Amino acid sequence: MKVIKRVESMAKITKDRILKNNTIGFIATMGALHEGHLSLIQKARDENDIVIVSIFVNPKQFSNAQDLKKYPRDSQKDGSFVEPFVDYLFVPTEQEMYPSDFHTSIAVGDHAHDLEGEFRPGHFEGMATVVHKLIAICQPTRTYFGLKDYQQFIVVSQMVKDLNMKTKVIGVQTVREASGLAMSSRNTQLSREEQATSTLIYAALQKAKELIQNNIHNPRVVEQFMTSELVKLPKSKIEYVAVRTLKLEKTQHIESDIVLLVALHIGKVRLIDNIIVYNK
Ligand code: PAJ
Repeated sequence: MKVIKRVESMAKITKDRILKNNTIGFIATMGALHEGHLSLIQKARDENDIVIVSIFVNPKQFSNAQDLKKYPRDSQKDGSFVEPFVDYLFVPTEQEMYPSDFHTSIAVGDHAHDLEGEFRPGHFEGMATVVHKLIAICQPTRTYFGLKDYQQFIVVSQMVKDLNMKTKVIGVQTVREASGLAMSSRNTQLSREEQATSTLIYAALQKAKELIQNNIHNPRVVEQFMTSELVKLPKSKIEYVAVRTLKLEKTQHIESDIVLLVALHIGKVRLIDNIIVYNK
């Protein structure tokens, strides 16, 4: 695994690889890597000639300075964790990505302004801007995104389609702890007790799924049920609970495949999760 720090060097490598007809699998990350990230990397390894992973804690997607400061960073540990599976680890500095004369930003559509977009203003603009840059530099054949961040996956897929970007966006299943808690770099910020109680999030999603499978078709009833389960979590503050179509549209009646989404704070930590319910 080669560690690349300069944008120019990374772009030259990808250009040479493309000339050799190599397929490139790419995974964008902010580090603090865990099994969730690894599942994206392994899928990329299976499907491409070379694998590039980027680690860049993107300041433009944080609306809260404290959150950015607190974000866990351990590049040594991350490097050794993914080394067996990765050809190039791209770790640009902030100055490389956003030189002082940087001015452009990607504007995202309506589907990015509610749910996460409502509670994290500017988040998706910053995320889309960095993802656009990273894809332009790495020119991947395939780009892998976790379904754990479902709205992010939708926003990126839409950007790639709308802006005719030459990569295929692939969504990868959420990897969970044995307890059901979705793996996240933020989980390390939870106390032991909070980690234990936060297993209720996945349990609430599962119970709501059962409700739908038992023919409850009113999304409001399902949302109220999820809320009533989640308020049982000590020290929690719910931001949103939503039943949406797979394109994240609101719906009055559950008839096709849908996604159940939740965002909440447990103590000082913000967590999100979702599950897709396939309605045969
Ligand atoms: P980060 O949170 O590091 O996540 C990087 C990728 O790993 C994302 O596609 C995310 O959905 C995926 N991922 C995280 N936890 C996962 C889990 N438990 N199971 C499956 N996939 C998981 O998302 C970002 O970084 C940033 O917004 C980024 C796209 C890098 C842009 O800055």
